Amino acid sequence: MIRLENVSLRYPKGKDVLRHINLDIPQGAFRFLTGPSGAGKTSLLKLIFLAHAPTAGRVYLMGHDVSAQSRKSRALMRRHIGVVFQDFRLIDHLSVYENITLPLRIAGHKQSFWHENAVELLNWVGLGQRLDALPETLSGGEQQRAAIARAVITRPRIIIADEPTGNVDPEIGERLLRLLIELNKMGTTIVIATHDRQLWEKFDFPRLHLDNGQLALMREGV
Ligand SMILES: Nc1ncnc2c1ncn2[C@@H]1O[C@H](COP(=O)(O)OP(=O)(O)O)[C@@H](O)[C@H]1O
Ligand SMILES: [Mg+2]
Repeated sequence: MIRLENVSLRYPKGKDVLRHINLDIPQGAFRFLTGPSGAGKTSLLKLIFLAHAPTAGRVYLMGHDVSAQSRKSRALMRRHIGVVFQDFRLIDHLSVYENITLPLRIAGHKQSFWHENAVELLNWVGLGQRLDALPETLSGGEQQRAAIARAVITRPRIIIADEPTGNVDPEIGERLLRLLIELNKMGTTIVIATHDRQLWEKFDFPRLHLDNGQLALMREGV
């Protein structure tokens, strides 16, 4: 589903942030991406959701070499990837309902086709009573669940989450993980970057560890 071959990344004027990374994440997998702050976790995720291109090496998504695709087909590939950002990035002046259904509007789908599913999803993440609320009136946990709902509403094949539990208390973080695990059971490939040891220790998923620009696969519990 996600494959990186000998990938390096350097920002202009910077040193190499990622060096010769090889990575293979099969369809339906669940992976933690760990490592200290500044290790390059966010940078690696950006390569996967096509916000950056590598300085060297190749990125394959869903079997396609990303660099060989046209801009247009890259944009289409991008639609199969749902992203949950650390700061959630909800739009202030839009209601919960409008925020969450924005990807469907952008994709040009008619409301009559998705409205029922959207309400069902909002109930599933526990926001069924908050459809008209503005983001600033939500708790941290509710904002996080709204961000997840927005990431999954187009039923992406891959979900990328960057420190999704960074701004909420541990109990809510664990509930979020359980939501993502449910999605994973339905076949979604999931990659979660976190430096929260308590989180990944609680769940028995393989862990990719980044340090000093290099990636290692850790055995569970190590
Ligand atoms: N847009 C950028 N331009 C230049 N340097 C960057 C940029 N983004 C991140 N970096 C640098 O790359 C390194 C890795 O950052 P990042 O991927 O955010 O790590 P992490 O998510 O693990 O904390 C850091 O040294 C950071 O300062
Ligand atoms: Mg980061």
